[in-house]
Amino acid sequence: MTIPTERPSWAPGSDGYYGEFGGSFTPEVLHETLAELRGAFDEAWRDPEFWNSYVSMMASYAGRPTPVTYCENLTRRFGGARIYVKREDLNHTGAHKANNVMGQGLLVQRMGKKRVIAETGAGQHGVATATMAARLGLECTIYMGEEDIARQHPNVFWMKQLGAEVVAVTEGTRTLKDAVNACLRDWAESMDDTHYVLGTACGPHPFPQMVTYFQSIIGQEARVQMQALTGGLPNRVYACVGGGSNASGIFAGFLDDPEVELIGVEAGGKGIETGQHASRLAGGQGRPGIAQGYKTVFLQNDEGVMQDTYSVAAGLDYIGIGPLLADLHQRGRARFESVTDAEVVAALRLTIQNEGIIPALESSHAFAAAFREASSLSSDQTILINQSGRGDKDIFTVADALDDDDWKSFIRRKSAEYGE
Ligand SMILES: Cc1ncc(COP(=O)(O)O)c(C=O)c1O
Repeated sequence: MTIPTERPSWAPGSDGYYGEFGGSFTPEVLHETLAELRGAFDEAWRDPEFWNSYVSMMASYAGRPTPVTYCENLTRRFGGARIYVKREDLNHTGAHKANNVMGQGLLVQRMGKKRVIAETGAGQHGVATATMAARLGLECTIYMGEEDIARQHPNVFWMKQLGAEVVAVTEGTRTLKDAVNACLRDWAESMDDTHYVLGTACGPHPFPQMVTYFQSIIGQEARVQMQALTGGLPNRVYACVGGGSNASGIFAGFLDDPEVELIGVEAGGKGIETGQHASRLAGGQGRPGIAQGYKTVFLQNDEGVMQDTYSVAAGLDYIGIGPLLADLHQRGRARFESVTDAEVVAALRLTIQNEGIIPALESSHAFAAAFREASSLSSDQTILINQSGRGDKDIFTVADALDDDDWKSFIRRKSAEYGE
């Protein structure tokens, strides 16, 4: 695989801006730490050995390269474009989050820090960070909104088993944005020995660039794999968008191919018109602003007060969006769509029943948008869906959505056993 020694098209300007988005807006207390991180990352990025050690660790520990699967049954069902899926669900710990954390772990070792902290929504990033910390012998604290803890309890269980301290965040909507704020506060007090493993392509420079750098492994692999499987590049690439790391990662492989259409899929929740969603770009609901250390498009009202967000998928429930994606949207290089919770659950069901593949609720957003469009393309065209993670973690939410009676009686029996 190519080593990105030249400046790739997904890197920001030297000030950390992608067009008008990005930059670094933090309290003074963090300036020095961020400068240290920029220096360490800049040095690592220029060292081809660093990328080689990353790729080889991901091969031996995380199971990379992940395959691309041709979905013959779904293709037949929709009767349009041939459907291919990039299988990040087969990555160690079950999601693309592992790419970013293992990479940042290598950087923490280079910087000689002893402790890592992280925020998590769906819990996948928390599990991945706790796994990395256990492997590399680092102390680990994970911040998670109380609401997300309730939705994603199996992941909380694993984080604790892996030796992490899990802190429940009780402010605001008790979801990801509140966990990010709590994490930033911890970092301001602990930066001498602590690295903040930011989980997505957001936050102050250099995080969006650094996370995209590690996640670009998805797009680099997928580009080569699609050429080998189909003799060409996909016509369309779909990825769900929370903060934007899996989308940035897969898009990175195709940014210089204008013939490949890039589609980011946001959470339409209960419908954009209900206000209960997390669509910042699709539907034109978001506005440019500065928060959480960077400038991007946020869901906020006219006075700049951040809106509450909602999604059935905890990992998409976020007010901001990676500055690279905000810029791609502004420049018309990527198209953004939103799908509702109901469409997501239907797409999940179809994928499970037709292909024996169980995507995460987050990833099912990308599937739902692709299914909506597949039949409008012809059978000599191909689409690639990024399956950012596996759905096991969503069993409680999905069982509720499908109203599964057997599952409910199992939970009642289990609860009786615990004497509740
Ligand atoms: C499986 C999965 N997919 C997607 C996301 C969304 O994050 P991002 O937009 O950074 O890829 C998450 C976040 O937790 C996730 O767990």
